[in-house]
Amino acid sequence: MSPWARASGICTKATGPSCLSCIRAGPNVYKTGAPWLRPLPPGDINQFAMMGVNPPTAYLLLTNIVKLPRGSWVIQNGANSGVGRAIVAIAKSLGLRTVNVVRRHEVITDMKELGGDVVVVDGSVGDTSPMNLMGCLSESGVLVSYGGTSRKPMVVHPGSFIFKRQKVRGFWLYYRYQSATLDEITAMFDHLTPLVAAGTIATPVAATYRFDQVREAVTRAAQSGGKVLFTPNP
Ligand SMILES: NC(=O)c1ccc[n+]([C@@H]2O[C@H](COP(=O)([O-])OP(=O)(O)OC[C@H]3O[C@@H](n4cnc5c(N)ncnc54)[C@H](OP(=O)(O)O)[C@@H]3O)[C@@H](O)[C@H]2O)c1
Repeated sequence: MSPWARASGICTKATGPSCLSCIRAGPNVYKTGAPWLRPLPPGDINQFAMMGVNPPTAYLLLTNIVKLPRGSWVIQNGANSGVGRAIVAIAKSLGLRTVNVVRRHEVITDMKELGGDVVVVDGSVGDTSPMNLMGCLSESGVLVSYGGTSRKPMVVHPGSFIFKRQKVRGFWLYYRYQSATLDEITAMFDHLTPLVAAGTIATPVAATYRFDQVREAVTRAAQSGGKVLFTPNP
């Protein structure tokens, strides 16, 4: 394991100032009174660096909104996004099956290789896509909105609420990190860490940049093809 990886850990408490409780005690040695820190297993440090946001979002969408028995189906749009890919991997680990709605034919094979049970193309991701998703939900099904990538208002059919008793919920990870107990967060990362270490949860990385390459990094981030990361040793 590289010195950089050895000095890494996931802060499962995710509150800014408390990170200052780590004190550098020597080369690659940190002292901390923070019980939420864990050493990471061997794995891709770039993937671990992205473990704090999209994988927890995916995990909580699958476990914290509706109790889904094994064998349940989950349908999602934007399925080839970082969150969507993590949903496919985590759903498999929980015995759930996924229908994955994407905008482009080019990503169908990729999504199937990831383990998506069904992959369909719907060009209407954005305003009317939620309505199409709700049309696939069972009675009393729940649609969760966690991102507004299309920047358009959501359109849903009133009949979904009136006749099918469906619900629409919002989700923001920030609120969950504020209210979750240490045990809950630890259990979540105990589930996610092996999946990231094994490469089962993996987000494509378009490029890595040094901190002094902000301009190039921002330009690259505006294009598609994966995440753009800053690293001290690109
Ligand atoms: N609520 C929370 O706590 C929370 C946590 C994490 C992320 N998020 C949100 O979740 C969303 C996905 O994040 P991510 O990091 O997973 O994204 P990402 O990996 O950058 O992927 C972006 C996704 O959005 C699609 N997309 C791009 N432009 C679009 C448009 N104009 N209309 C519709 N879809 C479009 C892309 O499809 P193509 O590949 O076909 O372009 C791709 O599937 C973002 O809105 C993010 O802010 C929310």
